[in-house]
Amino acid sequence: MRVLVTGGAGFIGSTLVDRLVTGGHEVAVVDDLSSGGNRNPEAALHVLDVRDPGVGALAERWRPEVICHLAAQISVRKSVADPVRDAQVNVEGTANVLEAARRSGARKVVFASSVATYGRPAVIPVPGDAATDPRSPYAASKLSGEVYLAAYRGLYGLEYTTLVLSNVYGPRQSPDGEAGVVAIFTDALLAGRRTVLYGDGSQTRDYVYVDDVVDAFARACGERGDGRRFNIGTGVQTTDRRLHSLVAAAAGVPDEPAFEPPRLGDLPAMAVDPAPALEGLGWRPAHDLPSGLKATIEWAARD
Ligand SMILES: NC(=O)c1ccc[n+]([C@@H]2O[C@H](COP(=O)([O-])OP(=O)(O)OC[C@H]3O[C@@H](n4cnc5c(N)ncnc54)[C@H](O)[C@@H]3O)[C@@H](O)[C@H]2O)c1
Repeated sequence: MRVLVTGGAGFIGSTLVDRLVTGGHEVAVVDDLSSGGNRNPEAALHVLDVRDPGVGALAERWRPEVICHLAAQISVRKSVADPVRDAQVNVEGTANVLEAARRSGARKVVFASSVATYGRPAVIPVPGDAATDPRSPYAASKLSGEVYLAAYRGLYGLEYTTLVLSNVYGPRQSPDGEAGVVAIFTDALLAGRRTVLYGDGSQTRDYVYVDDVVDAFARACGERGDGRRFNIGTGVQTTDRRLHSLVAAAAGVPDEPAFEPPRLGDLPAMAVDPAPALEGLGWRPAHDLPSGLKATIEWAARD
């Protein structure tokens, strides 16, 4: 199968590209290299902004069967600071990718959305059919991308699957920015720098390993899950304090974080129920947190 991966030089996208190439698929990447820099020599890299009309021209020329759309402005905090830029990349960029898919005759788009679209959920783990309640420009732009997918399916029959990703971690995640707590702890603890927990350490998140996430993308590239959105997480809540202990243990360093006051707007708890993805995609997470952290730390300590 021919698959175009936007954001394919990034953390999740490049892991997906490797997985698709290994699976015998033909892969091309669109990425502006603004944060990602990973390359697979088997996949043609097109250095383009997702908003660039060149994405449509490329798709018409190359005719992918599926487009996995991961290129995005990924930071909630940056979206609050500059909501217009967030919308430009995440809304305009998604519309441009959908136009490229339509014009090239692609069968399907697989889209990376976020648990941020749930806002402050009443029930945890969040059921697959829970109402969305975006509370940041990032959440609004991701949800807007989902609405565009539904509109293109209704108008043109372009299929889609939306994967609602919880906190993804693993090799290649950047410690820059605030999203990758595992990468931030790993980087600091291996370098002997101070680590900080905000609040009392009881805040929870649902950490899902990147290989499991790309497995969900690979499954969604096929015929399954058309026209649906799936939670991609483990359903397990891990506190910041426990995560820190696990990373410190795996890195073989003392477990002594500093504590600072909670940050405004931080969500107290999050986990999502992945059960519908088992029924819809045949997907379930295969890695538990200790084994995923071990692989992540081995990668981070590789040289
Ligand atoms: N990492 C997570 O925990 C997580 C959680 C929920 C959703 N997501 C979503 O998954 C996707 C991938 O995230 P990631 O963690 O791999 O981030 P990442 O920053 O590693 O990857 C994003 C890639 O997109 C590229 N990019 C950014 N803006 C672009 C633009 N305007 N044009 C072309 N390319 C552009 C970057 O260079 C980078 O390679 C994103 O859509 C993100 O919103 C990630």
